[in-house]
Amino acid sequence: MTSNSRYRPIGGEQEIAPDGLFYGVTNSGRSSLRWVLLSMKLQGKRVLAPDFICQVVIDVLNEYDVQVDFYNVKENLEFSLPICLDDYDALYIVKYFGHESAIFKKITHNSSLPLIIDSVFDVQQLDINAKTHWCCFNSFRKVSAIADFSQIISNMPLLTINKERIASFSKLKYQAKEAKYNFVNSSQGSEETYLDDFYNAEKIINKNHGIFEPEDRSIYLIGCFFSSLREEIQHRQQNLILAKKTLKNINYIDVFPDFPSFLPLLLNKRDEVRYELMRHSIYLAVHWPAIEQSGNTLSDKLLSLPLDSRYTIKEIECMCNIITMVEN
Ligand SMILES: Cc1ncc(COP(=O)(O)O)c(C=O)c1O
Repeated sequence: MTSNSRYRPIGGEQEIAPDGLFYGVTNSGRSSLRWVLLSMKLQGKRVLAPDFICQVVIDVLNEYDVQVDFYNVKENLEFSLPICLDDYDALYIVKYFGHESAIFKKITHNSSLPLIIDSVFDVQQLDINAKTHWCCFNSFRKVSAIADFSQIISNMPLLTINKERIASFSKLKYQAKEAKYNFVNSSQGSEETYLDDFYNAEKIINKNHGIFEPEDRSIYLIGCFFSSLREEIQHRQQNLILAKKTLKNINYIDVFPDFPSFLPLLLNKRDEVRYELMRHSIYLAVHWPAIEQSGNTLSDKLLSLPLDSRYTIKEIECMCNIITMVEN
């Protein structure tokens, strides 16, 4: 039956709407960034990057001899760029904590400079209308129990590469995650055991600079993650609303992510708050300490409040009350 028949064909192979996009998966944000740099031919080129970023990103840019200049990111996660960007081959932007700032939205809609879009804490597809070459990547290992999985989406084909395997990393991570589960939920084993395993696993990917594929268990778990994504988002949104309601509004950055990961706390007494939380066995991360190559005003004040569905209303309230008591 031809396509100009009066009837829509039924049966046979399932069709798919063309979306003009290209996809890749790796084990981590850094593997994806390496693949992006190769695909965008940015080796030895000039990239304008934010001064609020994790050191791993700068180290990967250095691996590819990228010359990096920095733009400043303000405390509300907005930023402004130099008027003339002619000296640069690409712009690196971050969807901080899954939040699209006004300037982020503007750039992803009309940038003429190629874009590296770092959505490290996000899981949703972006709404990008820029006509320029862009690549966007995330890192599921940062926002879920999955040890090694990252997606790349681009509007141009990714370079054909042979991905390597680094099974020992994933294996050790899952060993640590299971040991942590047993410790947290039934007091079995010791904290040191799983902390050592986490530390040693991170050492493995820190010293291996390849582009690695995710391992099978993670590919399986990504399916489970998406099958319960709606409930997960609902729980996270409730935790986000509760945290904002419980904290003073001067103590956090008001982000509006579709997929909440962490609420970025903005604290003058950050280290005091952090230690008081630790006394209650609450260990919050700093995203991100200052990089060696540039300063910024955020790194000394930030602390990330986790919002994922492991945490109950009571636990979110407890964390927020300790933070408010020490900070104010
Ligand atoms: C902003 C940002 N981009 C990229 C990465 C790299 O992700 P991964 O640790 O999965 O390699 C990180 C890591 O923390 C990050 O914070």
